[in-house]
Amino acid sequence: MQTEVLRVDARNPDPALIERAAEVIRAGGPVAFPTETVYGLGANALDSGAVERIFEAKGRHAGNPLIVHVADVDSARGLVTEWPDSADKLASVFWPGPLTLILVRAVCVPDVVTAGGATVGIRAPAHPIARALLSLAGVPIAAPSANRSNRLSPTTASHVLRDLDGRIEIILDGGPTPGGIESTVLDLTEDPPRILRPGPIQAHAISKVIEQVVSEGAEKEALPFRSPGRMPRHYAPRTPLIVSRHGRETVDSLLEQGLRVGWLAFAGASIPPAPNLIVTQAPVDRNEYAAHLYAALHELDDLDLDRIVVDSPPDSAEWDAIRDRLSRAAVQE
Ligand code: TXA
Ligand code: MG
Repeated sequence: MQTEVLRVDARNPDPALIERAAEVIRAGGPVAFPTETVYGLGANALDSGAVERIFEAKGRHAGNPLIVHVADVDSARGLVTEWPDSADKLASVFWPGPLTLILVRAVCVPDVVTAGGATVGIRAPAHPIARALLSLAGVPIAAPSANRSNRLSPTTASHVLRDLDGRIEIILDGGPTPGGIESTVLDLTEDPPRILRPGPIQAHAISKVIEQVVSEGAEKEALPFRSPGRMPRHYAPRTPLIVSRHGRETVDSLLEQGLRVGWLAFAGASIPPAPNLIVTQAPVDRNEYAAHLYAALHELDDLDLDRIVVDSPPDSAEWDAIRDRLSRAAVQE
């Protein structure tokens, strides 16, 4: 299969281009498209055959459920047996945006979407291309990140191509995704609600809208597999990755062993050039860091180095989602 990349202006998507992708979705095919977080690989969520093609293209484990993307609250209501008050409040503040709500699924949602489970994850994306696609396709779109399973999420169309060239028909290329880190996943079927995956919408912001929320970090060790995306090795480059509080020392000792090293260092440090060392400077601003993280890791990963060293991010809550992704990328197979 030939993979076609359609360039679309993210601020003003051309309806004719989006319609081509919408046709593929209606015909049961998968399409890669940008969201405000990362690129997704989407198919008609109500068509189990279409959703199965996502699993095939990604090589994804059938036990890992997908997020269903909707245009608005009305569409979300059609996918669940109960739309609680808390969902209403959260959606009115954070949708469209990077917050996925886990709710009890309605019978119209196929098993393949929920991995046979009783719940479904739903979010309304904010990206204009994702919104235009949802509106023209006229169906909810199930979409995981558009990468081969367990690899780094894609934040550009070329990242998608690298993993899925020849495996999907169309990529809508809207340029780099602005957020860079996958959505926050919040389980509303538990009382109190629990964050299953930290992301752009942080616990303190959620707790301003609903009274109580449990951060994933609190019981991380007790419940490691509650959400399959929480499996230890995930979001990982092929090159072994080390997160270090003492980047300089770690890098030096690897170089002394004769290894070729990529170092994702916080901007500002002066680092003299050294043979076998490639340095990439990471922004110190949290949002900019998030937006650039996967692109920087993809780039270093492509250089066929022996190790990637990443400076530890700060310990503050703001950096939770980034520490989470890095710690998963660093677990070795
Ligand atoms: O930002 C995002 O969320 C992106 C864009 C494309 O929307 N999507 C994404 O999808 O990251 P994926 O499949 O790579 O990650 C979805 C996460 C996984 O950790 C999955 O296990 C969890 O959400 N998840 C989905 N449905 C669930 C459910 N019913 N119960 C618990 N966890 C669920
Ligand atoms: Mg993913």
